[in-house]
Amino acid sequence: MKRGGPDAEHAVLRRIEPVDIPACIDVFYESVDPLYAALDQQVPPRDPASLSRLITHLVDGDGERAWLAESPSATGDPNPPRVLGFGTAWLRDTTWYLALLFVRPEAQAGGLGRRLLLRTFPGGGDGADGARTDPPATGPGMLATCVDSIQPISTGLYASYGIVPRVPLFTAIGYPRPGSLPDLPRDVVATAFDALAPAVDLGETLAAIDRALLGFARPLEHRMWAREGRGGVLFRQAPEGTPLGYGYAQRSGRIGPVALLDDTLYPAVLGTLVGRVSPPGPYLVLVPGTNDRAVVALLRAGLRFEGFPGIVASTRPWPGLDRYLPASFALP
Ligand SMILES: CC(C)(COP(=O)(O)OP(=O)(O)OC[C@H]1O[C@@H](n2cnc3c(N)ncnc32)[C@H](O)[C@@H]1OP(=O)(O)O)[C@@H](O)C(=O)NCCC(=O)NCCS
Repeated sequence: MKRGGPDAEHAVLRRIEPVDIPACIDVFYESVDPLYAALDQQVPPRDPASLSRLITHLVDGDGERAWLAESPSATGDPNPPRVLGFGTAWLRDTTWYLALLFVRPEAQAGGLGRRLLLRTFPGGGDGADGARTDPPATGPGMLATCVDSIQPISTGLYASYGIVPRVPLFTAIGYPRPGSLPDLPRDVVATAFDALAPAVDLGETLAAIDRALLGFARPLEHRMWAREGRGGVLFRQAPEGTPLGYGYAQRSGRIGPVALLDDTLYPAVLGTLVGRVSPPGPYLVLVPGTNDRAVVALLRAGLRFEGFPGIVASTRPWPGLDRYLPASFALP
């Protein structure tokens, strides 16, 4: 028996149902908090409502890649089985991305994280056996995720399947100094998504930009961001109207995702997005270390890096990240 105890060894894997989401949230906090405690770091503020929305989105859109592990139970047992861990991934075009993987401390280091990961892999589905150890056939696509740089276990686990750490992802927080981010050039027009002329096929435009930068389209996410009221802005070249990119600004002050085909526009696009919302607290931007235009603009405007960076890990280089700002670690 491995260190994870009898529960980990005999845990039963099944698909996550909506009713399981509160238990998954409990697993998330119980497994994350000790990471910060071990480093004597303050635990980040909790936001179970947004975590619930995220897991719901993943279960709705990618249910066959959303799995949990629970303790075995006997027929007639009055106690429901305890959820010990869960993992969810999404697949867009040929890109697979692990969004969340968490195992309760008492069940860690017993092979459960690996079993859950294997179920979420492309082709991992219902028939997959937890004992399988081969990396999946990736075809022409890519496997990716974002790891915590303070977490060698998950980083090592994913890297053993070729999902190796490549690009640091910093959290920049603060208040840009007035006038520190320039205006857009005169021939670049910014239009809020909801003010676009009906002739503009927004879905197709966003899909083309996403495919050019990220390698996949993600209509489900754009629909969710619209439902959540994130303000989306399309940037176009005047007078032809050629799309140059898009960006979102949330009322909370979170900026992103931002996807620009021309990265020289970053300082001005950030200035435009920041100017569209008046958040109650500081602005927050996730910025890949390789997006040098955005990194420099944000730091010179007065934002500061906070906490430990994440690391984008993938089976092959992901060059579009140098012109991109993700929405979150789980749904870049
Ligand atoms: C990360 C996590 C999901 C892994 O689940 P787990 O059940 O503990 O892991 P497993 O026992 O299945 O696999 C552990 C594997 O990690 C790898 N690993 C562990 N420590 C490692 C290290 N120091 N260096 C490199 N690889 C390491 C090994 O491949 C190991 O497998 P092995 O024991 O067969 O060699 C779990 O520990 C957890 O929830 N941690 C806290 C939350 C977290 O960090 N989640 C990931 C967010 S990115």
